[in-house]
Amino acid sequence: MKAPWFFYVSLGLAAIACGKSDSAPDKNRPPAVANGRELYGQLCAQCHGKALEGYAADHAPSLINPTFLESVTDEYLTKSITTGRPGTSMAAYSKQLGGPLDAASIERLVRFIRERGNVPAKQLAPIQAAGDLGRGAALYEAQCKTCHGDRTSRGEAVHLANAMFQAQATDPFIRHAIKAGRPGTKMLPFDKLTEQDIADVVAFVRSFAAPAEQQPPAIAQLPPPTGKEPLVIFPGGKEPDWKPRDGRFVPVDAVMKAYEEKRKFIIIDARPASDWMRAHITGAVSIPYHDTNRLAEIPKDTWVIAYCACPHHLSGEVVDALKKLGHAKAAILDEGINDWHRKGYPMTAAQGVEKPAAEPPGHHGHSH
Ligand code: HEC
Ligand code: HEC
Repeated sequence: MKAPWFFYVSLGLAAIACGKSDSAPDKNRPPAVANGRELYGQLCAQCHGKALEGYAADHAPSLINPTFLESVTDEYLTKSITTGRPGTSMAAYSKQLGGPLDAASIERLVRFIRERGNVPAKQLAPIQAAGDLGRGAALYEAQCKTCHGDRTSRGEAVHLANAMFQAQATDPFIRHAIKAGRPGTKMLPFDKLTEQDIADVVAFVRSFAAPAEQQPPAIAQLPPPTGKEPLVIFPGGKEPDWKPRDGRFVPVDAVMKAYEEKRKFIIIDARPASDWMRAHITGAVSIPYHDTNRLAEIPKDTWVIAYCACPHHLSGEVVDALKKLGHAKAAILDEGINDWHRKGYPMTAAQGVEKPAAEPPGHHGHSH
């Protein structure tokens, strides 16, 4: 496998083409044969919160909001976990895409979410009028964009322009969110909008989707990590001279400076390998937060920088695990990989992967 290859993810789960069915050792085993609650605690609570309430990490929505659960099918939940939302901190968790979970584990998670939320899916009303794109654009610009961003920028809420959101959400689902809001969150019910207004806005939200000829959207991926990639970048270099803030955080610009000066250090990608396979910092090794065996190989005399996208939660777990093993020289890439990528710093990416959407002004990427 030399060239980047692609998975085409269609609306049917069964249609995920499994490209790594060869007998390569399975490095992405689930953390344990675990029930839904255990899987959730190991893999999801970092961002979606211990009680599934959302926002433990930037942007991660509630998974148990009643108006969300009454409007999603189990299929939507399954697909969201399977493919993730490429370009956001929501990784693809399915094994076929390089994540840790087989189909049965994903199903256990979906059941766990349903049981915790205790709200069954209901029949949703369809869109009531033919949408006008121009009116929808104006409404969206005025009433939605600050929170949801658009094709090239994002806000604090779910990114509606994400290709996988577009593939997974139906028009009635979007209409329901607008009409009913999400109680207890910043998503208020838009009860002043007429059915015509809603149809117009939904038509505009739909215009974010890839053109029909590009459907189903492709998830571009590099070959999976082998676990044998060299750990240390610039092994002959001097030690970096950064001073981590709070003993824990190094800004992307300081790491880039050490990179340019060819200092000796190790970069760990703490996200599920599916994300490493999409795009990673050039020279970074994949040691996911849920599968940290390879940390035993890390030399204690060499600086380690761990990163994720959220931007601290998963990298923080890896740094804590290193500290437990007695490493003093381990820190977190402060603003996370998306900021590094947006700045045009060295990345190895699968074909067609673009820079992540810009964060809103004033967003510093620190949730705690
Ligand atoms: C690193 C943080 C992170 C982790 C870990 C994570 N998620 Fe997410 N998840 C997100 C973000 C962020 C979004 C929204 C994507 C966006 O930014 O637009 C999301 C979206 C979702 C959605 C879609 C919700 C909606 O309203 O459409 C589901 C379902 C979901 N995640 C389930 C899970 C499950 C189950 C796990 C564990 C296997 C998990 N997530 C792990 C960050 C995370
Ligand atoms: C003040 C911020 C804000 C504004 C303005 C806003 N939203 Fe939201 N929206 C949110 C938040 C936050 C969520 C997720 C809430 C949660 O955690 O369940 C959300 C959820 C949604 C969802 C469901 C996404 C998903 O995956 O669950 C849709 C669709 C949506 N909003 C559409 C819109 C549209 C269309 C508008 C304009 C008419 C709009 N929103 C205005 C903050 C906002």
